[in-house]
Amino acid sequence: MRRPNGKLLVIEEGGQLGREIARVLAEQGIHTEHVADASEGLERLFIDSSIHVVLTDFELSNESGLDLLERIRGERSNVPVIFMANEGTASLAIEATRRGAFDYLLKPFGMDALIPVVRQALRTARLNRRTVHLGGFDESLKAEFMIGRVPEMRRIFKEVGRLADRNVTVLISGETGTGKELVARALCQFSNRADKPFIAVNCATIPASLLESELFGHEKGAFTGASARRIGRFEQADGGTLFLDEIGEMPVETQAKLLRVLQEKTIHRLGGNAEITVDARVVAATNRDLYHHSAQGKFREDLLYRLEGATIRLPPLRDRRGDIPKLVEFFLHHYASEFKIDNPRLEKGVVAMLESCPWPGNVRQLQNVLRASMIAAGGFVIEKSLVRSILEREAGRGAASNTTTASPTTSIQPLVTASLKPWADAKLDGQLSSQTVTADGILSSALEEAERYFLTEALRRCRNNRTAAAKLLGVSRATLLRRLASYGLE
Ligand SMILES: Nc1ncnc2c1ncn2[C@@H]1O[C@H](COP(=O)(O)OP(=O)(O)OP(=O)(O)O)[C@@H](O)[C@H]1O
Ligand SMILES: [Mg+2]
Repeated sequence: MRRPNGKLLVIEEGGQLGREIARVLAEQGIHTEHVADASEGLERLFIDSSIHVVLTDFELSNESGLDLLERIRGERSNVPVIFMANEGTASLAIEATRRGAFDYLLKPFGMDALIPVVRQALRTARLNRRTVHLGGFDESLKAEFMIGRVPEMRRIFKEVGRLADRNVTVLISGETGTGKELVARALCQFSNRADKPFIAVNCATIPASLLESELFGHEKGAFTGASARRIGRFEQADGGTLFLDEIGEMPVETQAKLLRVLQEKTIHRLGGNAEITVDARVVAATNRDLYHHSAQGKFREDLLYRLEGATIRLPPLRDRRGDIPKLVEFFLHHYASEFKIDNPRLEKGVVAMLESCPWPGNVRQLQNVLRASMIAAGGFVIEKSLVRSILEREAGRGAASNTTTASPTTSIQPLVTASLKPWADAKLDGQLSSQTVTADGILSSALEEAERYFLTEALRRCRNNRTAAAKLLGVSRATLLRRLASYGLE
């Protein structure tokens, strides 16, 4: 058997279990050293760089396992730490993984449960040292709002620059997730209207009956329920920019009114006679083919021509793969600082794998995959197999649902009690406002990610024996079957 690089240090106060572990692992070709005292263990770790993984008692006589973990991570943050705990409470699982523990085992455990965990930790430690460290992070990216190195994107940036100060209506088209909103915001930020309002209206999410009042406002009594005057979005955006997102969804009658406003630069509030002059620069976006839409009578041709004056077409990500490595670097560092992870690392080959994906959900999908991978890797190296499983899940969901739409998540708590793999729960300690979390569905997708991982990992460890997997996870067999079914994992 191939001897894995690196040594395992066991800190076990009782002595007997530690010696037994060292003996069994030695038989497996895993070089193991046992100490019965935490401070001695720390000393060994700090002087012996060939120690790559620590397996330690959680309950220690002189300090808590969490304090020890903190000290280990302070000195050698790349060393995976596995706990052996007497009691498996949810709070322990959450707190230990939150602070970066690799895994933990509940005593008593069999050596057959220990060996795969140790092997995985050694493998992760090995990858940690071998991986592409994206630490050569280009600092200038921090200030970057949008990545684009390929000629197609450079052309777009120039177009944004050319159009920014011109008071023309701009239509931005492109598949979902290609960055249309970013470009719309850039048109505002780089214009002489930068310090004026940027008002966004999503024509797809506002009911048709309310859209006109939303855009143009209404006078008191204009229609049933109009109990007070309302200032519409056009007026709110006066002097600034009005972003009409998903303009292809705008009802044809509203399109006629919009066209008039664009031509005359005046509006009427619903139910009002006054002609109000507004100076709002309109930027519209669509992921539809408006010509096709117009041929079907769903989009006014005259409005289309008016909008087409200045068009920016964002290419799908599959047509600008050259940008993928920089996008990966950008998102990785973005989420690393959000999740407070130093040194985000990818296993070799991950970038190449990402470069070859079809990305029907474009940049947003790539962003989601990286975020989910970072959450699931919990601060350790992001392994290729993990990214692959996340990609497979994304593919299963289909392009249509590549946004962060969260599926209903039931409680992960009972599953966490038998924590199998660390996952960063930056979300759980409130680093993000609850508003951000719910708005983006981040927490739900993170929990979903973790739950799916626990389920598959438990099944793998129990060789698909569901009763054993349920026991390992601390849930009933019925719950396990239900959760498996909900993820299509039966
Ligand atoms: N070139 C890029 N560099 C960095 N981030 C990007 C880039 N393009 C898109 N993004 C990010 O991807 C996500 C989707 O972008 P955006 O919302 O602008 O897309 P969209 O085209 O408006 O999508 P949709 O049609 O679904 O509304 C955002 O989080 C955005 O910040
Ligand atoms: Mg958008």
